[in-house]
Amino acid sequence: MKLWGGRFEKTTDPHMEAFNASIGFDRRLWWADIRGSIAYARALERAGLLSPDERDRLVEGLQAVAQEMETGTFVFLPSDEDIHTAVERRLRERVGEAADKLHTGRSRNDQVATDLRLFLMDHIRSLRGHLTDLQRSIVERAEEHLDVLMPGYTHLQRAQPIRFSHWLMSFFWAFQRDRERLDELERRVAVLPLGSGALAGHSLGIDRTFLATELGFRAVCENSIDGVTDRDFVAEFLFWAALLQVHLSRLAEDLILWSSAEFGFVELDEAYATGSSLMPQKRNPDSLELLRGKAGRLVGHLTGLLTTLKGLPTGYNKDLQEDKEPLFDAIDTLSLALPVAAGVIRTLKIHPERMRQALDDGLLATDLADYLVRRGVPFRQSHHLVGQAVRRAETLGVSLRALPLEEYQAISPAFGPDLYAVFDPYRSVETRNAEGGTALEALQAQIARARVVLDGR
Ligand code: ARG
Repeated sequence: MKLWGGRFEKTTDPHMEAFNASIGFDRRLWWADIRGSIAYARALERAGLLSPDERDRLVEGLQAVAQEMETGTFVFLPSDEDIHTAVERRLRERVGEAADKLHTGRSRNDQVATDLRLFLMDHIRSLRGHLTDLQRSIVERAEEHLDVLMPGYTHLQRAQPIRFSHWLMSFFWAFQRDRERLDELERRVAVLPLGSGALAGHSLGIDRTFLATELGFRAVCENSIDGVTDRDFVAEFLFWAALLQVHLSRLAEDLILWSSAEFGFVELDEAYATGSSLMPQKRNPDSLELLRGKAGRLVGHLTGLLTTLKGLPTGYNKDLQEDKEPLFDAIDTLSLALPVAAGVIRTLKIHPERMRQALDDGLLATDLADYLVRRGVPFRQSHHLVGQAVRRAETLGVSLRALPLEEYQAISPAFGPDLYAVFDPYRSVETRNAEGGTALEALQAQIARARVVLDGR
């Protein structure tokens, strides 16, 4: 017998039955569903709609169903349309007629919205843990390699010398914004729809604030129609997930490139690499390629859900059943991607000498222009003069530091014999000592601030 079968004469077409069912994926909500129902049974008793004895039978019955779910002994039937009907069906088998009172004033519309929020609140806590651990791995490695210099890139062309740690820390702050966004969206997830009924609210004196407290919600929704219609919290979470995976994909791309033989800056630990079935010498950065590739999938989930939500009429529509699979998949993807990324960072081997070799004099051309600025040459002119020196050095087939002083002075008398001091990458990074720059002191201050946001100290 279907929950809603009263007014129906015909049975459902088997294809329709399969098409309509969400049990294949929403069974993951069992824990949230049972928790929600236990709280609801308690609230019904408080409203005088159940006797204390009926409440106890329902609560014990629900706990027994939870036990079956937990141990894998729960038998799903082909007629179980979704997790809500499956739990209620089994409850009735266990406690008899008392089960028929559990749905008093409740609809699957406010039930499913509540379950999904509860489920997400739980996973947000564990994802926050994973994200924080990734940030921790970054700070640890940054502190370990303060003195490793490498080229910084723009347009993927060598630009200026930086510290390896400075590059690494750039991701810390992107992940910090992700963590802040998660805290903010969590507030909006923790708003309780239960008690909204199908759409118009509850007529039987239910205490929604009691329900919210029981279930760990921060507030009750202000409008019952909004309560059952709103899936903004799923869309926000999917945006959060997509952007986080985009950050991971950028981190991965840098490391893929740098672990190639052409760069050789870093080496991926074997625990995060795979071999080739044909070429024995290969060590492929599959972990990183998947961190990069999963971004497409998560951006797709966000786009998919927004497209589903667009133009929906107000109130519950079955389209909303489509919210679950992308949400579950985003959670599952990040629950693996984040620890993998942290592991890659923690075990990454660094080759400082290869990075050092890539620091050619060209990277110090800006420093040379700054040198002229300190001698009173306006920057636009100094930029131009150094450009001429670069061209001259290229013509003579020498590096900038091998270009003789007479050549420099033929370009501008502002060049003096002390210009050659510029050709030291350590000096270069040390000159950039404003907050957020590459100088050791600035970097240490940056790391100290990162420690504060991580550990509150
Ligand atoms: N399985 C449904 C979903 O996930 C539950 C809500 C059903 N509500 C309804 N009015 N048919 O959205």
